[in-house]
Amino acid sequence: MFNTQEIARFKETPTPFYYYKLELLEETLNAVKKASSLYDYHIHYAFKANTNTEILELIQKNGLGADCVSGNEVKKAIECGFTSEQIVFAGVGKTDAEINIALDHNIFCFNCESIPELEVINELAAVKGKTAQIALRINPNVAANTHAYITTGLEENKFGINMWELEDVLVALADMKNVNLIGLHFHIGSQITDLNDFKGLCLRVNEIQEWFYERQIIVKHINVGGGLGIDYENPMENPIPDFNAFFKVFKDFIELRHQQELHFELGRSIVGQCGTLVSKVLYVKNGVKTNFAIIDAGMTELIRPALYQAVHSIENLTSNSSKIKRYDVVGPICESSDCFGKSLMLSNTKRGHYIAIHSCGAYGEVMASQYNLRDLVKAVY
Ligand code: LLP
Repeated sequence: MFNTQEIARFKETPTPFYYYKLELLEETLNAVKKASSLYDYHIHYAFKANTNTEILELIQKNGLGADCVSGNEVKKAIECGFTSEQIVFAGVGKTDAEINIALDHNIFCFNCESIPELEVINELAAVKGKTAQIALRINPNVAANTHAYITTGLEENKFGINMWELEDVLVALADMKNVNLIGLHFHIGSQITDLNDFKGLCLRVNEIQEWFYERQIIVKHINVGGGLGIDYENPMENPIPDFNAFFKVFKDFIELRHQQELHFELGRSIVGQCGTLVSKVLYVKNGVKTNFAIIDAGMTELIRPALYQAVHSIENLTSNSSKIKRYDVVGPICESSDCFGKSLMLSNTKRGHYIAIHSCGAYGEVMASQYNLRDLVKAVY
């Protein structure tokens, strides 16, 4: 996956670090643009997946919009050249200060999750003499086959407005002079690889649209969130997700009204495969059933395995030994969950070898911490 030039560069850079292949990101962006343009779908990049300036600027140049979940992400989007009409602001707990930032920038839309939130946006917009455009995030009660921590579309989750609350929401909205309903928003979870889950979402959206239609409401856009998964097991074979198949599900199953736009908020599927965490082996400890390769990256640099039992493909970039041995690849942090892979078959691994942890472009560097007062991980491109 890496050429000799890249490996030489790795050797000049203190480990651990994130390595981003911007060419792969560009190819992925071309693929998503090509596939979505077939149906005129609008794509917002979900900033939360990765907010590196280089990455954001490349995404901006390619014409995608910005899906932000904090005031700082809204500011960052503006700094990176996204126009205010391209910015959506979502999140279950927006603070007054964050809402004010978004109002000041006249963003395209607030995705709103409750009546109390709508009331605050209405009040703050009134103070500024503005009208905020809003979409209602509705909890579709559709299950997604993914890790429990990243499924979001069920009634038991904290996200969105439940169907039985919608009537009250419409009553409340009727009295709010400074918000304008323009969209409906849904998101069922992340790292979804079974496209049937999205078909389930489409069918549910059709029912919900019917409910609104019966009340003479047709919104300008439907936003179906993100969630398309990537291939963590075979990143080399499948570096770019099958965007054609993904969008076709929506084309086939969602019933849009006349001139209604369909919006997406994709994060992982855009940036996931372009990032690799590069680390060095500090020590090898021989165990009974397995050996331990202790590397200089830990859950501080990549928390996904510890938090979601996520599996990332791991490769020894240095060893050319034909001897294959069993290893647990672990970090230096004093927590048992600080483990990147158990019982992996790797070629004979020694101190100083470079280890690549693949598919770390999404929710990797952005979730890094300084636990144990470790240095915050750096990035190279
Ligand atoms: N829209 C909403 C409302 C979301 O909550 C999310 C992700 C997205 C879009 C983007 O979803 P994506 O296309 O990236 O699947 N840290 C976790 C993932 C958390 C996802 C949170 N929401 C992980 O490392 O797997």
